[in-house]
Amino acid sequence: RSVMSATGRLALVTGGTAGIGAAISEALLAAGYRVAAAYATNGQAADAFSTRTGIPVFAWDVADFAACQDGVARVAMALGPVDILVNNAGVTRDAMLHKMTAAQWREVIDVNLGSCFNMCHAVIEGMRERRFGRVINIGSVTGQSGQVGQTNYAAAKAGMIGFTKSLALEGASRNITANVIAPGYTDTAMVGAVRPEVLKRILESVPAGRLATPAEIARGVVFLAADEAGFINGSTLSINSGKYLA
Ligand code: CAA
Repeated sequence: RSVMSATGRLALVTGGTAGIGAAISEALLAAGYRVAAAYATNGQAADAFSTRTGIPVFAWDVADFAACQDGVARVAMALGPVDILVNNAGVTRDAMLHKMTAAQWREVIDVNLGSCFNMCHAVIEGMRERRFGRVINIGSVTGQSGQVGQTNYAAAKAGMIGFTKSLALEGASRNITANVIAPGYTDTAMVGAVRPEVLKRILESVPAGRLATPAEIARGVVFLAADEAGFINGSTLSINSGKYLA
């Protein structure tokens, strides 16, 4: 059924060649969508991903407004207009607030939250004209619960929720939905960078006692991307095994 509803639709996934984003790109492809994956820096890994999956990849910095306009134009030139936008690209610069630099604050706000504005701005007029759109923003349990060392990241991810609710109201009459998925700790390089003793303590707070797989997060994206998901708007779908019940 999802294959039927997906026919012809183009999904663009930022940070779509690694971690949760790669799983999202592959899950959308498997569900019958056409997929483009954007990445920022690791061209070698992105090319390997593209070769393995057949998914075309495009490079630009999602924190840069003009680069997003240009990147989306390049995607449109190659594949046509974007029907489904997944804002997945994100970084961490963890530090206690008293040790956090202004650069660490700015970078996380610009990449994780600024990207939502930049990317949505680049696709939203086309979605409004075509009377269809799905915006899926990848938040975090940290944006709901807070986390030691993540004032920057939590602020960006919580900001994403308010951004999404507002965009949801703006797009509803044009059949454009906007929703957040808030993953818990997931088996990616980002979580792999957390010190082992810190991660052990975090895992003790996860009811399932394990990390999520990227595919378990991607499952939610496929759900929200569907034509049939048109009445799900402005919501936050927590995929965290019950670690935090918002
Ligand atoms: N819960 C409660 N307390 C914590 C804690 C936690 N998860 N993590 C650290 N603390 C406490 C420490 O026990 C310590 O307390 P005391 O001062 O009373 O001893 C205090 O916070 C400072 O911690 P550190 O000694 O570790 O301080 P540091 O400056 O060496 O390191 C840090 C700070 C880099 C933030 C480190 O604590 C850390 O890596 N924390 C984990 C951050 C984290 O979870 N990041 C998630 C990355 S993955 C991701 O972001 C994906 C996602 O969406 C979830």
